[in-house]
Amino acid sequence: MRAIQGVGLAGQAREVHEELIESGYAVFRSPVDPRQDLAGAKRAVEVIVEARARPIAVFRRHGLWREIGVRPERDPLRSEGVGRSPLHLDFVNAADPPDLLCLLCVRSDPRGGGHTSLAPTDVVDRLPARTRRQLARPVYSDGVVVELDHIGHDVNPFAVFTPGDRWRVRYTDNLRHADSIDDDARRAVEELSVALHDHLKTIPLRSGDVILVDQHRYLHGKTPLGAGQADLPEDRRRLLLQMFGRARAEDQSPDGRTEAHA
Ligand SMILES: [Fe+2]
Repeated sequence: MRAIQGVGLAGQAREVHEELIESGYAVFRSPVDPRQDLAGAKRAVEVIVEARARPIAVFRRHGLWREIGVRPERDPLRSEGVGRSPLHLDFVNAADPPDLLCLLCVRSDPRGGGHTSLAPTDVVDRLPARTRRQLARPVYSDGVVVELDHIGHDVNPFAVFTPGDRWRVRYTDNLRHADSIDDDARRAVEELSVALHDHLKTIPLRSGDVILVDQHRYLHGKTPLGAGQADLPEDRRRLLLQMFGRARAEDQSPDGRTEAHA
């Protein structure tokens, strides 16, 4: 542990958080190679996150870090599936989703897929007023909050766009297929989906790369994994470790940067 403490790590943490504030996300190298020392890499990344946020264990079953592997037998569009992961806010249906998402790449996909995709939430501001009015109706539902800590209660049904709220945009591509919404609500969410996909960035993570995402400013997903995942031994398939962070009290109104609170 001594190797990862001191000025080097503090300096890297400062740079990472400056980048996060500037851009809404930050990609950096883990100070410890996760293939050599996984526990050391996790701890080093925790120290970097802790410079501006509190790591939170959301999944009661997994603790602070959750492994995201590849399971070819799963529904391709689900977590750990081989397909594209649709754009989403993690825990879209919770009162207070984690402010920060952190992904540590232990192994990238040897078949060349599985890049992280990001889309900025502020595209909602460029939609026509009538679309934004539709998105502001609390008629959208997705999933349920169970056995999750630190993110509050279930808020289904919710509005996709709530001006002035701490969670101004709550979106997942799944909403396009929700059967509980009327045609106007569906058209609005489809318009937002098109705008988000027009601004999609794709970020390949190599082994030892880490991405921090400000969930207020970016939605995330992943590109499909390369073909033939079932032929790869499990210990060669892509492996990410996921952790979440809660912003410190003084940073708790990221949306206040662009909008005065009433
Ligand atoms: Fe996610």
